[in-house]
Amino acid sequence: MDWTLLQYECVDSTNAVLKRMPEAAHGTVVCSQRQTAGRGRLGRSFASAEGGLYLSLLLKRPEPLDRLLHVTPMVAVAVRRAVFQACGLWLQIKWVNDLLMDGRKVCGILVETAPEGGIIIGIGINCNTRQFPPELEALAASLHERCEEVQREQLLTALLEQLQAMDEELISGKEPWLREYAEACVTIGRQVCLIGSGESREAFAEGIDENGGLLVRFEDGTRTVVTMGEASVRGLQGYV
Ligand code: BTN
Repeated sequence: MDWTLLQYECVDSTNAVLKRMPEAAHGTVVCSQRQTAGRGRLGRSFASAEGGLYLSLLLKRPEPLDRLLHVTPMVAVAVRRAVFQACGLWLQIKWVNDLLMDGRKVCGILVETAPEGGIIIGIGINCNTRQFPPELEALAASLHERCEEVQREQLLTALLEQLQAMDEELISGKEPWLREYAEACVTIGRQVCLIGSGESREAFAEGIDENGGLLVRFEDGTRTVVTMGEASVRGLQGYV
């Protein structure tokens, strides 16, 4: 597939730009050097200063988003592979949509329904980000800390290549992607705190299911699958 790549210096949010383009075709990519209103999951904001790679991609898939819950984990794997290709670093994954370097977040992923059908995949990567808001300093990291001067264009090219492979394998070829996700996921094998609507509960994270849901076991031995959007998962030790 040929991507239609639209590059900007500054936008409010690349996801929002794509949402305002009802005529956009499958494979349209909006990429910006910074965002003034970057958005994260669960209504949070996403700090998007100069130096990062912020992009959104439209996939005109026929399936509704609730049948594509495994997309976010697959995108995490695509980012992880692309970062290795461009920087030689293997990032870790925190369920469900964060990529970590030395336990701090370098990338977040936000997948949303497109107004005219299909899905919008938003990815924000801190590549050469020199400054974070004070409240994020201990939690966020940038690739340049471990990889001298990240070539943003090289990373973008590697990422688009990986996303193309992901689009091709999204339905019938997802297993190897989810296996790789589980291997890199630092949430698995740890005590976590599930934060739902107003209440939180401790559990042990056992694995990932075929939709990228987190399989957890409670202290009383009962098990459940946590799907994204249902709960936020906080590691009990550090940012995992
Ligand atoms: C998260 O960490 O909760 C998800 C963050 C997703 C950020 C990306 S940056 C590009 C795209 N545009 C946005 O406004 N958000 C996503």
